[in-house]
Amino acid sequence: MFIGDASKPHPFSSDEYLARSGARSVLCLPLMRQEQFSGALYLENNLATNAFSPARLALLGHIASQAAISIENARLYADVERARELTQAHARLVDTARAVGMAEGASNVLHNVGNVLTSAVINLEMMHHAVGSSRFGRLKQATALILKHREGLAEFLAPGARGGNLPSYLAALAEELIGEQTRLVEDIDAMSRHIEHIRAIVQVQQTYARTSLMTEECDLAQLIDDALRIQMAALKRHGVVLRCEIAPVPMLKVDKHKVLQILINLISNAKHALDGVPEGKRNLCVRLVGEGKRVRIQVVDDGMGIAPEVREKLFTHGFTTRPEGHGFGLHSSALAAQMLGGRLTLESQGTGKGAVATLEFPLP
Ligand SMILES: Nc1ncnc2c1ncn2[C@@H]1O[C@H](COP(=O)(O)OP(=O)(O)OP(=O)(O)O)[C@@H](O)[C@H]1O
Ligand SMILES: [Mg+2]
Repeated sequence: MFIGDASKPHPFSSDEYLARSGARSVLCLPLMRQEQFSGALYLENNLATNAFSPARLALLGHIASQAAISIENARLYADVERARELTQAHARLVDTARAVGMAEGASNVLHNVGNVLTSAVINLEMMHHAVGSSRFGRLKQATALILKHREGLAEFLAPGARGGNLPSYLAALAEELIGEQTRLVEDIDAMSRHIEHIRAIVQVQQTYARTSLMTEECDLAQLIDDALRIQMAALKRHGVVLRCEIAPVPMLKVDKHKVLQILINLISNAKHALDGVPEGKRNLCVRLVGEGKRVRIQVVDDGMGIAPEVREKLFTHGFTTRPEGHGFGLHSSALAAQMLGGRLTLESQGTGKGAVATLEFPLP
């Protein structure tokens, strides 16, 4: 658009701005970039008419196209900047997600290791106690007596004589020490199972992504037995009476350590729920049932039960009603069950009515 003398009538005479501005010459050039309108170059001169001569017009046309290119570049640059910012923001998000994932992985490890460590520590205390109260010392007293009466030993040991009871005493002592040794060997076995499970928990976390499984054919009855053994010392200490109802079910391809982790969590929860009822009434039943195309492992307790208002929250990360709880067990167990293609539920008729935790797998 070009107005040589704005004081004379022109196509934009009615424009309020032009009437007010007192412009004498006006030029408005479109800024075009590849046939695209990207802006306008507007010039006015209030002193002279025909200020925009043909020579100046050519130059201004040139400037306009340069301006169009510069504006386009600026826009592109802004886009690039924006893209860079977006990429950086995304990278930060990925980092955060990874950190959160790692933190969750780490707390998973800590929680599950913590569960097993509690049992291991109790087990160790029991071994310590067994060794401390062992009657090894009596053996020394007996041998001292024998040495003292070395001469005339036959008379000393004769029935009715002073040392007459010593041979049977030694025999009974030997029996007792052998029994003690057997129990200690069992406890050491349990200890190595605990350590093996801890090692597996850490290794699984280190070597595999959280989503990968290490499946193998498993005997679920054996897995239940392993989980109970790991928790046995703690169950005994809490005065829990255990019953197992194990039906024969087919072998199942699962990640053994994940199932073990779930069971340990469920048994540990049942044990805590039973703390609320008097000793002598603390009953725990672990069941294995096959039904059509499904197998179920149930951990049933007669404990404190679950109030209806908290039922919805049980599996929420961080939900706990125990002062020393973390609210991690059910959340991580439900996730693990899902990864195994199974399902975890926790039912209760209400406060004081016990609870039933069910881990269910579909059979192939
Ligand atoms: N067998 C049960 N009987 C009654 N309440 C239960 C039972 N199992 C779980 N709960 C309830 O669910 C809550 C969450 O259980 P979860 O195992 O997730 O956490 P926690 O046992 O409190 O702590 P931790 O993280 O150490 O396992 C418990 O605090 C308890 O209130
Ligand atoms: Mg728990």
